[in-house]
Amino acid sequence: CSLASLAERSGKLYFGTAYQSFYMAAEGFTPVLDSEFDQYTPENEMKWSVIQPEPNVFNWTGSDLIIAHAKKTGSIVRGHNFCWDSQTPGYVTNITDPDELKSVLKSHIDAVLGRYGNDLYAFDVINEPLNDNGTFKSNVWYNVLGEDYLGIALDYAHAAAPNLNLYINDYNIESVNNKSQAMAKVAQGLLAAGKPLNGIGFESHFIGGETPDDIAESMKQFTDLGLDVAITELDVRVPVNNMGIANSTWLEIQAKDYAQVVSVCLNNTKCPGVTVWGFADYFSWIPGVFAGYGAADLYGFTYQPKPAFYAVQDTL
Ligand code: G3I
Repeated sequence: CSLASLAERSGKLYFGTAYQSFYMAAEGFTPVLDSEFDQYTPENEMKWSVIQPEPNVFNWTGSDLIIAHAKKTGSIVRGHNFCWDSQTPGYVTNITDPDELKSVLKSHIDAVLGRYGNDLYAFDVINEPLNDNGTFKSNVWYNVLGEDYLGIALDYAHAAAPNLNLYINDYNIESVNNKSQAMAKVAQGLLAAGKPLNGIGFESHFIGGETPDDIAESMKQFTDLGLDVAITELDVRVPVNNMGIANSTWLEIQAKDYAQVVSVCLNNTKCPGVTVWGFADYFSWIPGVFAGYGAADLYGFTYQPKPAFYAVQDTL
């Protein structure tokens, strides 16, 4: 049985993965994608810098391929993302006039959701808005529009695609801490103001053996407000040798971490599903960013399932 069908049998909507369209050309990639997963998140190809690198210059190539593949396999797609401090072009981040910024945001959202609104299940409208201490990150959205930017972007997205599930997505909110408590206040404020917020994404980029033990409690902070909480970017990085290979002790620790996260989602009816941030170690973003770490995904370099894969399968 695939991870997707096991997840559905356990009452979840999907078991998903992020990927980039060009990975599909790699030998061994697409068979696993098609057999195990029924939800896709474009890892980069729906980000602003890819979709609209210059004003009114649109590049739909990668995102069209992912949407088309989802239609072919009957999978659902989570869009990612609109307001972020990274992968946003200079013609946007240099804007200082609030009306101009709002109009650029609205026309970008209208373009993306005009094309894909009916083909998507959810969208990370707001990505990574908070610092670890719970204050708002300095980025063009906050600096020009203040806290109102979240509600403004949610309103634009809802107007463009009324049935889409709209999310705020962030990391380090998977524990009860300053950041997740601040996020719960932000969410509560948006709901009280009648803003169309449907859920919170727990990115869940974890380190082997250090997965928080209070993910369920943190999830409850949001699901008690009536929001969904999806696990949106799960991976578990572990120490690797200079070939990028982890030893079996670390792979067993990692398997427990994966199982723990999946079981938290299974045990909360407001968690629609789990998305891994890639399933193939070969394409993982981890080694390029965290020196000495890697092997963070469910499948090794030649697409052999790792202990974490079997642990997720057992848990589901
Ligand atoms: O496409 C260009 C290519 O044309 C160019 O030659 C090459 C040279 O550097 O760069 C390519 O772009 C890279 C892009 O991935 C596509 O592969 C960027 O440099 C690289 O920075 C970018 O990294 C992505 C990263 O977000 C950017 O911040 C990772 O793949 C992606 O996994 C990562 O995903 C984020 C989520 O969106 C948000 N949460 C955290 C997560 C991990 O950082």
